[in-house]
Amino acid sequence: MTLPIQIAPSVLPADFAELGKAVRDLESAGVDLIQWDVMDGQFVPNLTFGPDVIAAARKHCSVPFEAHLMVLTPDVMAEQYVKAGCSRLIVHAEACTHLHRTLANIRNMGATAGVALNPATPASAIEHVLDLVDMVLVMTVNPGFGGQSYISTMEPKIREVRNMIEAAGLGDAVHLEVDGGISATTVAGAASAGANVLIAGSALFKHPGGLEAAVTEIRANATAAFRAA
Ligand code: DX5
Repeated sequence: MTLPIQIAPSVLPADFAELGKAVRDLESAGVDLIQWDVMDGQFVPNLTFGPDVIAAARKHCSVPFEAHLMVLTPDVMAEQYVKAGCSRLIVHAEACTHLHRTLANIRNMGATAGVALNPATPASAIEHVLDLVDMVLVMTVNPGFGGQSYISTMEPKIREVRNMIEAAGLGDAVHLEVDGGISATTVAGAASAGANVLIAGSALFKHPGGLEAAVTEIRANATAAFRAA
């Protein structure tokens, strides 16, 4: 597996009245990409960013955007988020009646596709779509809100997904992302289990040393753990 460790913020804890500044600050802090937690109030009990909000932020930085679509109707919403400037769309396996078709459609829109698994969803749910994605997201909280505690019992599932990716010969093509409760202290467990893309919200925005120190610390801890595994 040669894919790099990537640190990506969730914009969820940012000041929504200053999102242009938030993405500029995140880029300056050294993040590799930015994740937008899109919530529809149906799939999860929260409501966040429409495509126009993301489009407005797009011109304020140059790092890639990905949309984490925590929505009941990803097939309806997907294209709007590609047009808004997201180069990767992540859909939840639990929200897709025809996951294989949804992922193929996202690729046909010119974006890369990711698939997310809620904590109770087994890794086997994505066994037959690994050829259609460039990333698998293993949720380490139940989606809907930032600031929740990391669910360490997800680590065997992270390892299982990593093994599936490697067994399919896709270790150089498919990232493994984790999202939820990731911090300088919890990141080692996720990275040593095989995660190479780490999403952090609260741990970045509430770090006493500021964004850059947070990114640096989480990246260092993730890299050390991933290499030692
Ligand atoms: C849950 C969200 C959060 C967010 C990260 O739906 O996806 O996991 O990205 O929030 P923290 O890092 O504060 O747990």
